[in-house]
Amino acid sequence: MKSNDQWSSRFGFILASAGSAIGLGALWKFPYMAGTNGGAAFFLVFLLFTVLVGAPMLLAEFVVGRHSQQNAVSSYQSISGSAKWKWLGYLGVTASFIILSFYSVIGGWVITYLTRSFSGSLTGLPNSRYEELFGEIIGSPSTALLTQALFLAITVAIVQFGVQKGIETASRYMMPALFILFLVLVVRSLSLDGAMEGVSFFLKPDFSMLSAEGVLDALGQSFFALSVGISLMVTYSSYLDKKADLTGSVVSVVSLNVLISFLAGLAIFPAVFAFGFEPTEGPGLIFTVLPAVFNQMAFGGLFFTVFLALLLFATLTSAFSLMEIIVSTVTRGEGKRKKASWIAGLCVFLLGIPSALSFGVLGDISVFGRSIFDTMDFLASNLLMPIGALLISVFVSRKMKREILADEVMMSSKIGRVIFPIWYRLIRYFVPAAITIVLITSLLSY
Ligand code: PHE
Repeated sequence: MKSNDQWSSRFGFILASAGSAIGLGALWKFPYMAGTNGGAAFFLVFLLFTVLVGAPMLLAEFVVGRHSQQNAVSSYQSISGSAKWKWLGYLGVTASFIILSFYSVIGGWVITYLTRSFSGSLTGLPNSRYEELFGEIIGSPSTALLTQALFLAITVAIVQFGVQKGIETASRYMMPALFILFLVLVVRSLSLDGAMEGVSFFLKPDFSMLSAEGVLDALGQSFFALSVGISLMVTYSSYLDKKADLTGSVVSVVSLNVLISFLAGLAIFPAVFAFGFEPTEGPGLIFTVLPAVFNQMAFGGLFFTVFLALLLFATLTSAFSLMEIIVSTVTRGEGKRKKASWIAGLCVFLLGIPSALSFGVLGDISVFGRSIFDTMDFLASNLLMPIGALLISVFVSRKMKREILADEVMMSSKIGRVIFPIWYRLIRYFVPAAITIVLITSLLSY
């Protein structure tokens, strides 16, 4: 999208930012993060961070973008009048690059599952087989790399033509459909024998299960799931006109995202316990548990295929936003969009190869006890996103005038008037303090 392009409507903007936010973060990463960090305690801390840190950050990025009407890199520079701040924009682009490199690996898994489910080979297997199958699928270098490349090729093909308007329209139907299918899944999962153990794992907090590291994971998850801290939302909101209600959009995007994470937890954990899977399974959690749940449903095979198609769609809309940021920064909104998109796609692919192979042939390599894939995720979600968010919160509350912020937050927004004084204090004091404390305590605990 060129910098002078505008969203077709305020609703279009909400759809696009919700499309960026809702994806693998809520549907794939949240359940396994909660699973490895003790369940309910993680969920509660994640919820607190989302409301008190993530949501204010989303509003802060919207304010910067809409005020400057420029992409992330030039926004900071033009508002502050200092070239130094443009590095904050570049930090975001670097993080987007890293995120897309491992995000596309999971996108590839979704493609593999979709094709297998379409051919009917995923239904009717004994539950234990799903774990093995997942291992086989992710362990094969050729499948991993081919599907990752395919996922990126689809992303580039869409982004290069700038056909986001079509995607906006499609989101209108696909997102509600995904939501409804999730509700069905939750009902099925909750009615399994032994489901209650999973419900209490997910909803009855035991704080002794949560480490300092887990708290940083929860902070990183709240940023990852809302796509904040990397200035992506700055660029997205720069396409927005002056009349739109930013605060209302934040409320919509955040509540949708929390709701989907909650439903994901309710769909997964009861089934984990009912079927005797391990909640600490890691990145494979939804891929081993969900086929087993669908198996217990009438027309399960069909539903699973539809579900995976919708999941792929949600994953792609997030990938588009990441690719869009990279491409719009490289081309500065003009010319050579096509070539830039394919080159960027190729670089992302190359960077993602080690992550893709870290579940198979490169499985033995570990960096500070983490696989290559987890290291990339940690670097982006637990370091670059919080550091980016910290700097953005300082930028907004120290480099921009209070009156300008008030104007942006309250414009065409009833709720903005109520929220502004609270938001201002959060972004000026609480957000930077909370991020600093969490980062330092958890990094010291390593
Ligand atoms: N929020 C996206 C998701 O939950 C991931 C993402 C992170 C997208 C950062 C863009 C930027 O799937």
